[in-house]
Amino acid sequence: MRNKHRKPSAYCSNAGSKYSLSLLTFIIWGFVGCVLMIHFYHIIHHNDQEETEVKLSNHMVTRELEEVEEENFQIPPPRGKRSPRAVLRRGPRKPPTAIDEFLDEASDMRPFFFPGRRNAVDPRKGGNYSMHFYPARIWLDTDGNPIQAHGGGILFDEKSETYYWYGENKDGETYHAHKKGAARVDIIGVSCYSSKDLWTWKNEGIVLPGEETNITHDLHKSNVLERPKVLYNDLTGQYIMWMHIDDANYTKASVGVAISSSPTGPFQYLYSKQPHGFESRDMTIFKDDDGKAYLIYSSVDNSELHVSPLTDDYLDVTRVVRRILVGQHREAPTLFKHERTYYMITSGCTGWAPNQALAHAADKIMGPWETIGNPCVGGNKVFRMTTFFAQSTFVLPLPGIPGLFIFMADRWNPPELRDSRYVWLPLTVGGLADEPLEYNFGFPLWSRVSIYWHKRWRLPQGWRTW
Ligand SMILES: *[C@@H]1O[C@H](CO)[C@@H](O)[C@H](O)[C@H]1NC(C)=O
Ligand SMILES: *[C@@H]1O[C@H](CO)[C@@H](O)[C@H](O)[C@H]1NC(C)=O
Ligand SMILES: *[C@@H]1O[C@H](CO)[C@@H](O)[C@H](O)[C@H]1NC(C)=O
Repeated sequence: MRNKHRKPSAYCSNAGSKYSLSLLTFIIWGFVGCVLMIHFYHIIHHNDQEETEVKLSNHMVTRELEEVEEENFQIPPPRGKRSPRAVLRRGPRKPPTAIDEFLDEASDMRPFFFPGRRNAVDPRKGGNYSMHFYPARIWLDTDGNPIQAHGGGILFDEKSETYYWYGENKDGETYHAHKKGAARVDIIGVSCYSSKDLWTWKNEGIVLPGEETNITHDLHKSNVLERPKVLYNDLTGQYIMWMHIDDANYTKASVGVAISSSPTGPFQYLYSKQPHGFESRDMTIFKDDDGKAYLIYSSVDNSELHVSPLTDDYLDVTRVVRRILVGQHREAPTLFKHERTYYMITSGCTGWAPNQALAHAADKIMGPWETIGNPCVGGNKVFRMTTFFAQSTFVLPLPGIPGLFIFMADRWNPPELRDSRYVWLPLTVGGLADEPLEYNFGFPLWSRVSIYWHKRWRLPQGWRTW
């Protein structure tokens, strides 16, 4: 969700600082200890000749993706190159920040943040860049049209051994419903794309369309449909979609549910509600190894997250709910699991503007959850403070290489939302530690979650299991 009527981000990011200095000290020492242990482990690991071949090759493949790649650009841009509008907004004395430039349509840095059509990634051309991800470039489907699957998520369908990418189709005009309204696009519907290789995406059409005429319908085009996610229910054999449903002013703050017997739809819209009577804005769903699924949603004016198990048919929440990361003001939650530990990446709440991602970890999905820091590595400082100018939406495990994931994020383009870009990057957990780290003074030393910046990268061999 990108509610424009947010509190200033300073409030958002300072909210947790009351949490007690001693805990912070613990965390810092814990982190130092962790780094030392990982370092030590690496030294041992390096000399260990008895590696199994699989582990060695995993290490090799992920090491390539873990190379720290710097990104050089000058912020603020050289005087002559400053956007007059960014200067105007900040006043003459304050130099424009990278975020001002990023948000300014007229900025000379625009092509850096939003590369043009000439550099589009086109699966029909193949050639040199084939199978390579280029974060933030225009990404075309197999028909040659830009992929429209924003705020999306990916389902791996075991029956067809196919990946399905669901997301918001925002291929309409960006406008403001009223003076103080957030930039928006009318609901068009949820797009679905299919792929076997995660790079070549075929458009499967709009699997849940918006409603053109019925103004009382949740999906009426004047409303908001964000962050659709789909799970397969093993018990009922149905595909269940959950999404954020809202009105244009983000006051409805509800979740919606839809169902289909096929991954490519059509999905039948069932209902919306406020889970447990609470506001629900940015949200995601997660299916655990045991088949139980969970809803995670930003609540109480986005000041905290709630986690709740779904019913066995995934069509509703159960009565159980826990408040987590209370007072931390996080949104855009994504959830994933590695070696019995649950991890989450979230963003701060600053409307369409990018901000710093945080990683969180927990032994149990219902909490307690602990914040373990900014996962972004490489690029440069501004990149790391802005999640590479993007916002988390999903983390996809790569079954063949445990510990390696694709971090999926949206680089929103508020003046032209349909031209928002996808930032996909490799995410790894731990220094490839294959044994859980020790507890330190009762505080678990969580493995590090790292998202590595790359201008260009590809999946390593062996990422598939079929
Ligand atoms: C292929 O891409 C690489 C990296 O971007 C570049 O250095 C190289 O010149 C390209 N080769 C061709 C034939 O385009
Ligand atoms: C309009 O939508 C509402 C809410 O979903 C529904 O109850 C009503 O039957 C719909 N009206 C028509 C004419 O389809
Ligand atoms: C949103 O808020 C504006 C201004 O407060 C108001 O004019 C408009 O009717 C509201 N729209 C909805 C859908 O609630």
